[in-house]
Amino acid sequence: MKLQAVLFDLDGVITDTAKYHFTAWKQMAGRIGIEIDSDFNESLKGIERMQSLERILIHGQQEQKYSQAEKEGLAQEKNDEYVSLLANLTPEDTYPGIKELLQELQEKKVAAVIASASKNAPLILEALQLNTYFHSIVDPSGVPGKPKPDIFLKGAEQAGAKPSFCIGIEDSQAGIEAIKTAGMYAVGIGDDRILKPSGADIVYPSTEELTLQRLLAAAHMI
Ligand code: BG6
Ligand code: MG
Repeated sequence: MKLQAVLFDLDGVITDTAKYHFTAWKQMAGRIGIEIDSDFNESLKGIERMQSLERILIHGQQEQKYSQAEKEGLAQEKNDEYVSLLANLTPEDTYPGIKELLQELQEKKVAAVIASASKNAPLILEALQLNTYFHSIVDPSGVPGKPKPDIFLKGAEQAGAKPSFCIGIEDSQAGIEAIKTAGMYAVGIGDDRILKPSGADIVYPSTEELTLQRLLAAAHMI
C-alpha cells in the first residue's frame, strides 16, 4: 500500500461542529450589527479565528472600527459562546463512518493526523473519545492558516509521510485548496458544486462513504 497518512480536518469532517462555529459567529456579529448568512459562512469555513473575525468586519464594513484589543475581545466572546455549545458533545456526535475508518487505519498502521485550524481540537477529540486513534494533532499556532498548505505539510511531517502519499479530507473550500497546494490527494465532504471548483479530487456527500478501500481506489494508492 502506498498510502502513508490520512490528514483529517476536524470541524465538519469528524463531527458537526461547523454548525456551532456558524451559530457563535452569527450571534457575535449580530451584536455589532452585522448579518451573516450561510453562503457567507462558506468563506469562513477552515479559516482561523482572528482571520474569520476580519472577514466578518470587512463584510459589515466595520474593518476600521475596532482596536486590536477590542477585536481580541470580540473573538473571545465568540469562542466563549462556541465552547459553551461544545459542552453537550458526546461520542455519539462523531459523524457516521469516521470511527470505522479510524479503526481500519489503525489496523493497517496508516497514521491518522488532525490538520485543523482549531485551537479547540484537543477538547473536541476528548469529548468524542477519539484521541487514541490519532498519531498526532497539528498545532495551528504560528503556522500560516488555510488556504496555505502549511497545516497539512506539518501534519505529513509529524507522521513521517511524503505528501504525495497522503490523503487530506476537508469540508471547506480553503481546506481543499490547502491540501492541493500541499501536493496531496483531496477528498471533499459536502457539496461538489462548492468543493470541486476549489480543486477537490473527489467529493462525497457524507462521511458515511469514507471507507479505506474506497479511498485507496480513488487515490490510486493501493
Ligand atoms: C476551523 C473552522 O476548523 O477552525 C473555522 O472551520 C474556525 O470555522 C477555525 O474558525 C478556528 O477554530 P477555533 O476553534 O480555534 O476558533
Ligand atoms: Mg472544516
